[in-house]
Amino acid sequence: MITIRTLAELAAQRARWPQDVGFIPTMGGLHEGHMALVRRAREAHEVVVASVYVNPLQFGPAEDFAAYPRTEDVDCDKLAQASVDAVFLPTDAAIYPRGRESQTQVRVPGLSEDLCGRYRPGHFEGVTTVVARLLGLVQPRACYMGKKDYQQWRIVARMVEDLGLPTTIVGVDTVREESGLALSTRNAYLAEAQRSQAPDLYQILTEGAERVVAGVALDHVEAACMERLKALGFAPDYVAVRRAGDLAIPQAADSELVILAAARLGRTRLIDNREFRR
Ligand code: PAJ
Repeated sequence: MITIRTLAELAAQRARWPQDVGFIPTMGGLHEGHMALVRRAREAHEVVVASVYVNPLQFGPAEDFAAYPRTEDVDCDKLAQASVDAVFLPTDAAIYPRGRESQTQVRVPGLSEDLCGRYRPGHFEGVTTVVARLLGLVQPRACYMGKKDYQQWRIVARMVEDLGLPTTIVGVDTVREESGLALSTRNAYLAEAQRSQAPDLYQILTEGAERVVAGVALDHVEAACMERLKALGFAPDYVAVRRAGDLAIPQAADSELVILAAARLGRTRLIDNREFRR
């Protein structure tokens, strides 16, 4: 596996690769969820490139940018083991050569202010800005994103469509522990007691989806899930049932739905979701 740190090295490598590059952007702290994206890309493309970059632009001032796990050596070992061709480990200067404030920003209106965007102002602008730049630099035919971050996946797909970028965004199913807990780099923050509590989030979403299928009104299901989360010691930001794909408020005729939630457990913010049909 080649390790690339500078724009010049990346440009030189890109010129030698075929068009058929599969790309996996990450912030490191790699786990089996990330590796599922890597394996999907490995099956489908001649060249597979991953990036590891903890993007300061997508963290709020009170968020965990400083504490975010940085495990570069272990991450590179995992990627090499999975037969990744190249890992891009950019510096801040490579991503934001003009400085964070002066760099062109990319914003997907509406979708970025909804759900998690309400509680993390500027977060999705930070995501779309960095992903747009990475896609421009790596020029992949396909980019692999996890459905665990469902809203992020849909926002990036919308951005690619709106900008006419020549990349296909591929959504990959969430990898979970046997308990149902979605794998996340932030799970490392959970204390032991919280770790045994955390799987309840997915359990409650699963039961919420079942109640929607059984015909219970969406606002009732959302409110009931919020109450159950609070009773179990979570501090939920939201529980929402939306139309799969564009995350619009479901109309009566919509059958492809997704139930999404964000909830804090101590200082750890967990998100999860479940797609379902009614
Ligand atoms: P990060 O949290 O490192 O996640 C990188 C990719 O792995 C994302 O597409 C995410 O959805 C996916 N992923 C994480 N946990 C997963 C799981 N349990 N199952 C399946 N996929 C999972 O998301 C980011 O980084 C950043 O916002 C990024 C897109 C890299 C932009 O900075």
